[in-house]
Amino acid sequence: MRRPVIAGNWKMFKTRGETSAFFEAFLPQIQNVSHCDIVIAPPFTALSTAVDDANGSIVKISAQDVCWEKEGAFTGQISVKMLREAGCTYTIIGHSERRQFLGETDEVVQKKAVAAVGGGLKAIVCVGELLAQRDAGQASEVVRRQVENGLRGLTGPDLSHIIVAYEPVWAIGTGRTATPEIAAEMHAVIRKTFAEIYNEVAADALRVLYGGSVKPDNIPALMKKEDIDGALVGGASLDPASFAAIVKYQN
Ligand code: PGA
Repeated sequence: MRRPVIAGNWKMFKTRGETSAFFEAFLPQIQNVSHCDIVIAPPFTALSTAVDDANGSIVKISAQDVCWEKEGAFTGQISVKMLREAGCTYTIIGHSERRQFLGETDEVVQKKAVAAVGGGLKAIVCVGELLAQRDAGQASEVVRRQVENGLRGLTGPDLSHIIVAYEPVWAIGTGRTATPEIAAEMHAVIRKTFAEIYNEVAADALRVLYGGSVKPDNIPALMKKEDIDGALVGGASLDPASFAAIVKYQN
């Protein structure tokens, strides 16, 4: 049995004050939750505030990105060690917004994944096809390539620190969620690819999250699919009540 993960990606939203206001409202709503891991990824500037605010709860804090180098002349970058010092447990890697707008390639994703897990972070590695690729019948091929190229080179013990998020780009921030069937089909492609690169045991244990317009009303049907182990939530994670409702998808 894979333990579900509900993760919130705040993107470029929330100051430190807004972060504390979120936790003040959110934590009382999830205090009895034990069925899943809860992860929140605030912007870099609010990470340590979030770590302090979440202290004593089951919520773990994630960065939204990380540098592949340990340290050096990389203006604007943040290292694994800095994130760990700030109290982060996770980092997101390869989000489609970074791939589309900031030139992130599979090669960069791979270097970041190796650096993150090598340095003691858990990595939520994002993959997903563009609308044009889906319409051209290339969705599986694109995602398979992203998994192959983005996740190779990890060693045995690292594999349990990898989570893959399937986020079809056409579903992100559009209100157009993938159907549970489409999502489950793609999750199976991801798991199969992971088994081919590594092995069946690691693939069976791999947690694969769905992301793209996840809301309180569509999460229950998604979570009923065996291959869907949780969600990476953007817009709906900004509001304490809606994110709590997603976390409590079983109710
Ligand atoms: P969304 O974003 O839930 O707002 O569609 C998901 C994501 O980008 O991780």
